Amino acid sequence: MNFPEISNLKTTLQQRRQKLAQQFPDKALLWSGCAPSRNFPANTFPFRASSHFLYFAGLSLENAVIELDNGKLTLFMDNPSAEMILWAGEQPTRQEIAATIGADAAYPLSELENYHAPAATIALPHPAIYQQQCQCLQREIPQPWQAQGKDLALIHAIINLRLCHDNSAIAQIRQAAEVSMQAHKAGMEATQPGKTEAEIRAAMEQVIMAHDQSCAYGSVVTVHGEVLHNHDYSHTLQENDLVLADVGAESPGGFASDITRTWPVNGEFSPTQREIYDLVLSAHDACIEAVAPGAEFQDIHWKAATILTEGLVDLGILQGNVSNLVAQDAHAIFFPHGVGHLLGLDVHDMEDLGDLAGYAPGRTRSNRFGLGNLRLDRALQTGMAVTIEPGFYQVPALLERAKTQEPYQDMINWNQLAQFSDVRGIRIEDDVMVTSDGAETLTTSVPCQREQIEQLCQSG
Ligand code: GLY
Ligand code: MN
Repeated sequence: MNFPEISNLKTTLQQRRQKLAQQFPDKALLWSGCAPSRNFPANTFPFRASSHFLYFAGLSLENAVIELDNGKLTLFMDNPSAEMILWAGEQPTRQEIAATIGADAAYPLSELENYHAPAATIALPHPAIYQQQCQCLQREIPQPWQAQGKDLALIHAIINLRLCHDNSAIAQIRQAAEVSMQAHKAGMEATQPGKTEAEIRAAMEQVIMAHDQSCAYGSVVTVHGEVLHNHDYSHTLQENDLVLADVGAESPGGFASDITRTWPVNGEFSPTQREIYDLVLSAHDACIEAVAPGAEFQDIHWKAATILTEGLVDLGILQGNVSNLVAQDAHAIFFPHGVGHLLGLDVHDMEDLGDLAGYAPGRTRSNRFGLGNLRLDRALQTGMAVTIEPGFYQVPALLERAKTQEPYQDMINWNQLAQFSDVRGIRIEDDVMVTSDGAETLTTSVPCQREQIEQLCQSG
C-alpha cells in the first residue's frame, strides 16, 4: 500500500487541528470505520474512511481512531498482522503512518479499552463501529442530527471548518474535477446510436479508473434522465435520445466533484430538445452568475425556478402569471429537486449530519413541493464549494398527479407539452467555488454550450 501524494499534508492537518482547537479545545475521538462485507467477511466493498476522520487524518485508514485534543493528534491503530500482509501485501506500520500524518502519539487499538476521558464524537452508520464507539465512551451516542452537548459542539465546530475549504481541499476538488471533465468528454465522444448506457458509463469511468481515482458516487448514465438517480445502464441508445450523465471522480485525498451534462445520441439536439436545453442552460448560467459571498443559496434556487417558469410559459407549456406559478410551485412539476448542494469530502458534503451543515442554524427544511428537496439553505461564504444543477424532467408520476390535481392541472397546456416528448430529462451541473469577489466555476473545460457539445459528440 502506498500513501496518495498530497502536498503539504502534515502542515494542512496541523492547521486543521489548530483551527478545530480554537472552536473546540476539548477531547474528540473520531473513528475511520471499516469496509462493509459482501455476504462473507473476506469479501468486502472498497473501504472509504468516514469524512470527518479523513479531514483530520488525511489518509483513508481502515479500523483507526484519532483523538484530537487541543491541537494534538493521537492515532490508535494496530500494526498490520501477518495474515493481513499475506493477503494484502506489505503495509505501513503504525509509526510510519503516525509520522506521515504528523501524529503526536500512536498506540494500538487495545489502548482504547483504557480510554476513560469524556470525549465528544460523531456516530458512524456501520453497526459494529457504532458499538465500538458506545463501548469505548461508555454511553449511548446519539445520531449526529440528534446530537446534544459536547457532541453537538464538536459537530458545529467541524461544520464551521469543513464549510469553507482550505487550499489543500480546493486543490483536491480541482484534481477530481479535472479527471471528471475528461470523463465527460470521453462519454460524449463514445456516444453512438446502438451502444448501451453501460458502454458509455464504461467509457467515462475508465478515465477515472485510469487516473487511479474512484467515483465519488454512483454514476448516472441514462437515456431516462427523468429518473433523477437512475442506476440502470441497460438501455440501448436510440437516434433521438438524450444521454444524461451525472458522473464525478473522487481525488486521492477523498474530495468529490460532481458534474452533469446532457447530450444528443445522434450528435444534434432536435428543435424541441434545443428549446429546453437552452432554457436549462440559461437558468444554470444565471445561477452561477449569482454565486458570491453573502448570496443566499435559497434565492439562487428561486432564481432557477423563476427562469425555468418564465421559459416554460414562453414555450406554452405552463400557462398563467409567472409569479403566481412559482408561488404555487408549478415549476417543481418539471424541476422537483434543489438547485445544488455543498461539495467537499462528500458529494453532498456533510449530509451524514442531516441538515446541520446544509441549513444555517435556526433554519429547517420546508415541506413545500420542490423546495423540500433543497439541500443547502445558507448565505454563501468565501471558500464554500457548491454545485449548480438546474434541470427539466418529465417524471411520469409527477405529471400523472398534476393531471388530476388542482391547482396544477390547469397550469399545464397538455397538448403543447406533448410536443416535447423527446425531452425526458435534462440537467446541467457544474462545481462552483465561492471566492472573495464572486465565484469560480471549476468545471468549465467540459463545455455546456449546445453547439460545443454537438461538436464533441460528432468528433467521436
Ligand atoms: N450527483 C448526484 C447528486 O447531486 O445528487
Ligand atoms: Mn449534484
